[in-house]
Amino acid sequence: MLMKAEQHDKVIILDFGSQVTQLIARRVREAGVYCELLPFSTPLSDIGKRAPKAVILSGGPASVTEKDSPRIPDGLLEMGVPVLGICYGLQAMCDALGGKVESSENREFGRAAIAFDDSKLFSGVLKKEVWMSHGDSVTALPPGFKVIASTKTCPYAAVADERRKFYGVQFHPEVVHTPDGARMLKNFVLEIAGCKADWTMAAFRDESIAKIREQVGSNRVICGVSGGVDSTVVAALLHEAIGDRLTCIFVDTGLMRRNEAAEVVGLFRDHFNIPLVHEDAGALFLDRLKDVDDPEQKRKIIGKTFIDVFTRAEKKAGAAEFLAQGTLYPDVIESVSPHGGPAVTIKSHHNVGGMPKDVKFKIVEPLRMLFKDEVRALGRELGIPEKFIGRHPFPGPGLAIRIPGAVTAEKVSILQKADAIFIEELHKNNLYAETWQAFAVLLPVKTVGVMGDGRTYDHVLALRAVTSVDGMTADFAALPHEFLGHVAVRIVNEVRGINRVVYDITSKPPGTIEWE
Ligand code: XMP
Repeated sequence: MLMKAEQHDKVIILDFGSQVTQLIARRVREAGVYCELLPFSTPLSDIGKRAPKAVILSGGPASVTEKDSPRIPDGLLEMGVPVLGICYGLQAMCDALGGKVESSENREFGRAAIAFDDSKLFSGVLKKEVWMSHGDSVTALPPGFKVIASTKTCPYAAVADERRKFYGVQFHPEVVHTPDGARMLKNFVLEIAGCKADWTMAAFRDESIAKIREQVGSNRVICGVSGGVDSTVVAALLHEAIGDRLTCIFVDTGLMRRNEAAEVVGLFRDHFNIPLVHEDAGALFLDRLKDVDDPEQKRKIIGKTFIDVFTRAEKKAGAAEFLAQGTLYPDVIESVSPHGGPAVTIKSHHNVGGMPKDVKFKIVEPLRMLFKDEVRALGRELGIPEKFIGRHPFPGPGLAIRIPGAVTAEKVSILQKADAIFIEELHKNNLYAETWQAFAVLLPVKTVGVMGDGRTYDHVLALRAVTSVDGMTADFAALPHEFLGHVAVRIVNEVRGINRVVYDITSKPPGTIEWE
């Protein structure tokens, strides 16, 4: 019997605005339990409708000592479900139940040694270390509560009313700096709340196939694919659900990494046998980009051309009622404004290279409840080759924004060759997976060099590699000097047109990851 997502035991995480609330959700799902993230201002009736087996209250930047700070929804603590409060969540719970919270002079921030009492929350926890980040502290417990862990500076580091299954921790179990924090969250959802650990990607795959069939009925779907992991997973999943009623569209801009267009076509046609309309539009893109050197202008031209080509491809694909999209959970979650104001949705989308917004389609978004790492796990479940699953993100406008200045066919070809060497060497030296993104940028600067007996006057190539968790901020990757030296030698020797290689050591901010 197939289960629907609604039938899984469910944990609700109420977000009080912490930067790391999504990590709580990730940890709960890693424990095999389905969870959803809602703003703290969600009415009790909406929470009740979801019939949660447990509720987790996140941290947040506000202070419960202030009158207008965020509060726990009225009635939540009378629902009879286990509750775990984290940092601000603990303080809000203590405040609501008659305890006392006070602001302290000093903010406590960083690692702290901790002593745990015997509690179900800490079962199997070995490392006596936690991560603290708070200004306010609980100074008196609500009736029924007792202390279950303390640090030197924080006597109420963890508290519990075990009869009502209310738990609170002042530290952050969701971050990696609390070494056994994941275990505590697992203990809470499995042992204390008694949730079943049945949220697996194998189960998700079966359920979403059933859901897609129900949503789409006997209609047809088109799906834009780019070779990126999200669109590839959407397409593979839809194909399992509805077979040849799915047609994929691949707009080949001619601005992809070397061989990538052929790999995308090979994956869909040969590996998956999914009907694919391949629009080889490289010449059109180059033609429209001719002599354009303004970065914004380039993006606009590429965006418009993408839509033109996609629309042309749609006609070849035949009539369809649905358009599939690879929207992920982080795009869906409503962000909470830190000081308790109305919830706002912050999205930072690069629309260039995205799908045309077309009202004639109904939308099917099978990944909208998944985090990126879950999409990868699902991809493996669907038999997508590792090469596609672990691949670095790639911008819609492709190599055009890695060629500052006007784009020509010759420059694209030079850049593809140099980029391929860099990527090949990263793989060979086991450095690829350690970087979030790595690529080459062909600069519109020529410099003098010597090669053999002759003088050269050729392009400079910049190598860029960054580490990041979400692309919003990034550090330049500290790749070994010998490695960079080796890559530079290979590029100058093997790629005609480049005689100098530099490494970009700018982080984001102040830089961006891409150069345009
Ligand atoms: P920046 O350069 O803004 O990039 O630091 C952040 C992340 O977004 C990618 N990126 C894009 N992705 N269309 C996309 O689909 C775009 O127009 C675009 N511009 C940047 C970039 O590669 C990095 O991963």
